[in-house]
Amino acid sequence: MNYDDFADLYDHQYDLYRDDLHFYAGVAERAGGPVLEIGAGTGRVTAFLARRGVRVVGLEPSARMIERGRARAAESGLRLEFVQGEAGTFRLGERFPLAIAPFNALMHLYTPGEQLAALENIRAHLTPGGQFVFDLYVPRYGEMNTLRHEGETFHSPDGSRTDVFLVQRHDRVRQHVTTEYYADTTAPDSTLRRRHYTLTQRYYTRFEMEWLLRCAGFEPPRVTGSFQGGPLTETSDVMVFQTRSG
Ligand SMILES: C[S@@+](CC[C@H](N)C(=O)[O-])C[C@H]1O[C@@H](n2cnc3c(N)ncnc32)[C@H](O)[C@@H]1O
Repeated sequence: MNYDDFADLYDHQYDLYRDDLHFYAGVAERAGGPVLEIGAGTGRVTAFLARRGVRVVGLEPSARMIERGRARAAESGLRLEFVQGEAGTFRLGERFPLAIAPFNALMHLYTPGEQLAALENIRAHLTPGGQFVFDLYVPRYGEMNTLRHEGETFHSPDGSRTDVFLVQRHDRVRQHVTTEYYADTTAPDSTLRRRHYTLTQRYYTRFEMEWLLRCAGFEPPRVTGSFQGGPLTETSDVMVFQTRSG
């Protein structure tokens, strides 16, 4: 899954998503050392932690996401440490007391082979007993195969507006949800430009992830249904996993 095409839209869509920020900042401050962030994207969490004085190394495969992350950080006088690479294959000459993978980063690992390779590699970059903390969407879906507009309209300084429409498809056998995004930009002279992006996410069940973690050498995780620590219930939107290298 390559986020290069997606980078501009990503920032528009998720710049204001803040539900997880204080949770990850708390975990990082308690760990008291440098943090390895898997799938750092455009540095939404990276920058939040760096502003609190935490050293973060942001691993991210997409050059365009990194470029945007660096540019945004520079605008606010921050220098972020990004490394281009994939969870399954990156190699750093350093071990960390904490690795995090915020906002569904692990949903871009599609097969058990990719998942295990990534988890084992993350564990190999932890200090003994080091923590791994991440969150995943609970698999629950809106109306499939239907064009939806979920209120995402962005106004640009040049007077143009962009409306994001989406269609989702669910492949139950592969455990994939694919979202087709149509970003329609209307210029002040009424010309219309359409950009199209496809995003496929591999969803997990709670116990599937628990087994994957055990197979990769992690301790049984603490699983919560919110960033505030509440239990995982039928109405939870996220699953938050906190584990340690066994
Ligand atoms: C939903 S975004 C989350 C970005 C960021 N963590 C945030 O919270 O805003 C998922 C990120 O995972 C990255 N990603 C995709 N495949 C990956 C892989 N194999 N290893 C590491 N990161 C990956 C994507 O490029 C993307 O930036």
